[in-house]
Amino acid sequence: MGIKMVYDFDTEIDRMPTSSYKWSWMKQITGLEDLFPLWVADMDFACPPEVVQALKDRVAHPIYGYTGPTDGYHDGLIKWMEKRHDWKRIEKEWVTYTPGVVSGFSLAIQAYSQPGDKVVIQPPVYYPFRNQILANGRQVADNPLKIVDGKYEMDFEDLEAKIDARTKMIILCSPHNPIGRVWKKDELKKLVEICIEKDIIIISDEIHNDLILGDIKHTPTATISKKAMDRTVTLVAVSKTFNLAGMSTANCIIPNKKLRDEFQAAAAKSALHNNLIGIIAQDAAYNHGEPWLEEALEYMRGNLKYFEEFLAEKIPGLVVYPLEGTYLAWVDCTSLAMDDEKLNDFMLKKAKLWLDEGTLFGIEGSKFMRFNLACPRSILVRALNSLEKAVNNL
Ligand SMILES: Cc1ncc(COP(=O)(O)O)c(C=O)c1O
Repeated sequence: MGIKMVYDFDTEIDRMPTSSYKWSWMKQITGLEDLFPLWVADMDFACPPEVVQALKDRVAHPIYGYTGPTDGYHDGLIKWMEKRHDWKRIEKEWVTYTPGVVSGFSLAIQAYSQPGDKVVIQPPVYYPFRNQILANGRQVADNPLKIVDGKYEMDFEDLEAKIDARTKMIILCSPHNPIGRVWKKDELKKLVEICIEKDIIIISDEIHNDLILGDIKHTPTATISKKAMDRTVTLVAVSKTFNLAGMSTANCIIPNKKLRDEFQAAAAKSALHNNLIGIIAQDAAYNHGEPWLEEALEYMRGNLKYFEEFLAEKIPGLVVYPLEGTYLAWVDCTSLAMDDEKLNDFMLKKAKLWLDEGTLFGIEGSKFMRFNLACPRSILVRALNSLEKAVNNL
């Protein structure tokens, strides 16, 4: 390890008593037991002790009435974005609370388009993008990523061709779940140029912005240029970064006043309340969680190395795509020569691995599986041994 570890990522913590989807709901969702749950994107690590302490302190006060954001809620976010992502001078009033990033982009769809309008997405991509577009009665305009020399890239020519008069916005995934790219500045510049030329709004889902495992630095889309900032809605949260997904708290950063007013008008229709516990968690995480995050990233880089080396040596047919950001490894399982249903069945019933199957993210994900690597190394080791055994028995 490159840094001295103070926090504990090795201990296996029993999540069964917590009604966690990943662990406690296993039987209900899959009909099976004793699986290695490497699917939904949360971590099996204790979140920063600084956050736990802040929550304990607040919960010790026995009144949980209507509560506004603390000073540290906004200050922490603003300082964090400047320090970690070079986004200077975010103003407090640019930030609107939502109970999640998914509700953030759902409200953006409602705010900036009409039923029947088109919204661009870049599959394979986090599946609620498509679901929310369709649930709101809009059309999906697919601009699939392309694979060039074993690496995913955006297809700008196709993007230009796909945008027509009914296309109002693109939902960008940056870093991109599930394929693990951290988009480079050049790539974002090109994307922004097209969005300016075609006059569409950019909804930039940057929930994975802090989970950088490789060498490429995350660039917030809004910081590409003044014009980019004027048409970008940025969605961020402490949920993925600090393992706080159950806190139902996210932030939509909208510098453009007109876009902000439209967003807030859509949000007002849903009468959203702040979540008291989420406020405390965000305040503590952004203000005190950085040392924990550095170690968590180092630990996950170690998991990724173990994962890549294990597969390369023991199951070389499985191809791991370069994981630059997120802790979700995207693995091409074509060599197992199974259709998607069989592949999923094999992973669940033979390998005992509960993964997210590639087709969830679009047909482009056929024959792929997504592995969540944010767990104690010992779990990963047992899961991979179980996979190796199942493959050897084929
Ligand atoms: C790209 C992306 N956006 C949003 C979310 C979920 O956001 P929330 O739980 O805040 O709605 C996830 C969770 O995996 C994600 O990967």
